[in-house]
Amino acid sequence: MKFFIDTANLDQIREAQDLGVLDGVTTNPSLMAKEGITGDQNVINHYKAICDIVDANVSAEVISTDYESMIKEGEALAKLDPKIVVKIPMIKDGVKAIKYLSSKGIRTNCTLIFSAGQALIAAKAGASYVSPFLGRLDDISTDGFQLIEDIRLIFDNYQYETEILAASVRGPMHIVNCAKLGADVMTGPLSAILALMKHPLTDSGLAQFLADHAKAAGK
Ligand code: G3P
Repeated sequence: MKFFIDTANLDQIREAQDLGVLDGVTTNPSLMAKEGITGDQNVINHYKAICDIVDANVSAEVISTDYESMIKEGEALAKLDPKIVVKIPMIKDGVKAIKYLSSKGIRTNCTLIFSAGQALIAAKAGASYVSPFLGRLDDISTDGFQLIEDIRLIFDNYQYETEILAASVRGPMHIVNCAKLGADVMTGPLSAILALMKHPLTDSGLAQFLADHAKAAGK
């Protein structure tokens, strides 16, 4: 399973990269705004800064919503760095833009996926990734894991190469359950990735090992 970090925060991206388990970064306009990144040139510079930190792919989202502007924006983003994957929203013009960009060899991530039908049409258009928003479905008492399972079944039925990128992941059990269901990728906050390593029995077990070692050494 690939691990992406869902943030535009450079310190957190660096920390995840240093951990050695990072396969990619996803951003969106809200995450950029959260870091105070505004203005077209600043956004572009920030994408370049992220690409300089990671050895992995970086999803950069278009803000246009019509076909012509989305492909223009998508082509410009893709030219910034070979690591860029163009993130396109699941709307009618977005599907057309995914079809066009994928025909030009530009990788795309279809975002704001909330149903299996949306994932299916994005895959047919040639999206490299579909991003079902697990956490936001859970927020409205809808089973996000069922959506991952349904998309997995459909993509396997037809051998679609589109990768399932479980997004809007909020915690470690989201990651574990997505892995059990066969999501290809998860994107979540650094806190969810770090939480995977924690167990109270690990902490108490290590403390005991070190105490026994010190005692045996007469310290
Ligand atoms: O990047 C898209 C997605 O992961 C957003 O997550 O936490 O805002 O629902 P969240």
